[in-house]
Amino acid sequence: MQEIEIYENIMVYRDVFDNPQKMFEIVKESSSNNPDRILGEWSKWSQFGQYVKDIFPSIVSLNQKTLKPTEFNTETINELPTNSKIQEDQKYLLLEIEKGFIKVTDAYIKKYSNFFDFDKEKTIKTNEGVMVPLWVMDGPSLCKYHKNMIDHKMSMVYHSDYVREPLQSPGYKFAITANYYFNDEYDGGEIDFYIDKNLIKYKPQAGDWLVFPSGHPDVLTKNDQVYIHGVFPSWNAEKYFCRSYWKKYDVGSPEWFAKEKEFGKEVWASMQDDIMREYRPTRFEIPEGKRL
Ligand SMILES: [Fe+2]
Repeated sequence: MQEIEIYENIMVYRDVFDNPQKMFEIVKESSSNNPDRILGEWSKWSQFGQYVKDIFPSIVSLNQKTLKPTEFNTETINELPTNSKIQEDQKYLLLEIEKGFIKVTDAYIKKYSNFFDFDKEKTIKTNEGVMVPLWVMDGPSLCKYHKNMIDHKMSMVYHSDYVREPLQSPGYKFAITANYYFNDEYDGGEIDFYIDKNLIKYKPQAGDWLVFPSGHPDVLTKNDQVYIHGVFPSWNAEKYFCRSYWKKYDVGSPEWFAKEKEFGKEVWASMQDDIMREYRPTRFEIPEGKRL
């Protein structure tokens, strides 16, 4: 495996898989939504393109409400029955992605272990007194960007995957993002990082894993600035990638729980969408910065 640091805390891992071309073909085929499949359905992904939200419906990914960590692991994938070549291929794809995610994030966590405290075994007590894992994997989700979005300056505006909130809610928060890029025959489609007034543009190669801080204020910042990224439009071919995360549990702030008490659990929960819509914490204008 090749390891390239393109900027502090932003790592590219190459040559992780034996057959990246085969993986790309399986993903491309899956987007036809052939009924003979084990993968979830490709559906509309906002204005960006399409994605598979639940990578395979029989396995539950991280559920914020029940705090159930993902069951996306080698054991559960291996248990999936397959009855056709397509299903076998998709199972192979899932196993490869799982193996790759663990391999590159283990390397990443080891490399930056002096800068944040990561321990898969660590647990934390929730406000309700339940012990839950401090770190959980979320994902993967398969995505593809529409090609030729002529009306958009950016395919995805500058943001952090970590979601800022006016009051800190309890739950799992994005901490480390790991993207895998299946293809690169499109034009454009670069990811652009904005960190501490620096801009760093990177065009992923087919077979790249890109691992970077999700913008969590506790996990890898630079001069107390969190990592922000945006994505440029891609042209002439669809861009396929896969995203997965390590998330960190946050117990929530006393102010959040005070509001919950004031309004009652149900009402407070139903107010969250509107509060977040108004707050819009993850959206940023195109920043002015020094391009490196
Ligand atoms: Fe993102």
